[in-house]
Amino acid sequence: MTLAIDQARLASEIEQLATFSDAEAPAVTRVVFTPTDLKARAWIKEHCQEAGLTIREDPVGNTFARWSGQDPNGPVVGTGSHIDAIPNAGKYDGVVGVLGGLEAIRALRASGFRPKHPIELLIFTSEEPTRFGIGCLGSRLLSGTLSANVASELTDNEGITLEDARVRAGMKGSLEQVRLPPAYYKAFVELHIEQGPLLEREGLSLGVVERIAAPASLRLTVEGAGGHAGGVLMPDRRDALCAAAELILALETEAKATGAIDTVATVGICDVFPGAVNSIPSKVRLSVDVRDTSLERRNRVLKTLEEACRAVEVKRRVAIQSELLNADAPAESATDVVSALRQACEKHGLRYLSMTSRAYHDSLFISRIAPVAMLFIPCRHGYSHRPDEYAAPEDIARGALVLAETLAALAS
Ligand code: GLV
Ligand code: MN
Ligand code: MN
Repeated sequence: MTLAIDQARLASEIEQLATFSDAEAPAVTRVVFTPTDLKARAWIKEHCQEAGLTIREDPVGNTFARWSGQDPNGPVVGTGSHIDAIPNAGKYDGVVGVLGGLEAIRALRASGFRPKHPIELLIFTSEEPTRFGIGCLGSRLLSGTLSANVASELTDNEGITLEDARVRAGMKGSLEQVRLPPAYYKAFVELHIEQGPLLEREGLSLGVVERIAAPASLRLTVEGAGGHAGGVLMPDRRDALCAAAELILALETEAKATGAIDTVATVGICDVFPGAVNSIPSKVRLSVDVRDTSLERRNRVLKTLEEACRAVEVKRRVAIQSELLNADAPAESATDVVSALRQACEKHGLRYLSMTSRAYHDSLFISRIAPVAMLFIPCRHGYSHRPDEYAAPEDIARGALVLAETLAALAS
């Protein structure tokens, strides 16, 4: 079997997909079920069909592109990732795993390889939490980690429920039908950019992911008292933004205090009400993201944040409400899938790094129902979730080649 990845086609398709964006180039914004997202989905589906794959879209819009094997009812060998992009993102996060996965399948088909097991490319819905507050919606539903009832009630900032949004986007059926049957997958492999600097620092072009860190996110609402920025004297203030500032810094201190490089914490959204220059903030909403490879350490940070909330309430005479949006366990890759990836690297004489993913991925949730592993390729300076995210075409093609080799081994 000779596998030929068309590096130029893959690079050009990544550029084309980036044109489906609600941000000015080079930034990409593609939020789930927006007209832009729907156009991008249609474009991908067309390319999958042109490659000879059969499309199935589930009721939340997870899109499966199938190459039936000699045993069409056998467990599936899956690959894929997401194409939604957070506001002001880059071109490669998720996309490399979708278009790289498609290119890997094309290379396998062109080589004359005949899979025993079906091979499927999966484009997950809403890996990013932008619209509905929690990430990996598609894979949470596929794996049964999130129930259809809870999912359908999730709302966006405009008060539109996931249920309404998906129906308006043309998705058919009920969310109950999204969950995959047991043992659907034989294995699942996701190709992704590293989103960190380690591969580049080590001068390596491939990373085999052995575990994915445990993410948690919550929303904090701080209520104080507003008033005139000139009139209210400093000792009388109950400024919600000053209280929120204390919480942000307390979170940073707690994350650093674990002493573990794997503990990370971020406040990525700070909404200030009423948001006028001469008005004391009366209400602030913060979004908090905490992750760690150790569940216990991650939970300790969440607990100390809760304690900080109580202390700031007393100190600043404000009320703080916290709403836990998700707190997930970490995932270990499956030994067999890791071995298949390592052997594929070795077959092509490629060195790799064994690594941890501190970013979360749909593979975290698919690991609850299937043997999973991930393959990382470098991205320049480790930049991701920003417009200057960049992965070199030769690294992407190398990733697609190793992915193709791995899918072939797993589907034989
Ligand atoms: C996924 O985009 C993440 O935030 O890890
Ligand atoms: Mn992302
Ligand atoms: Mn991603």
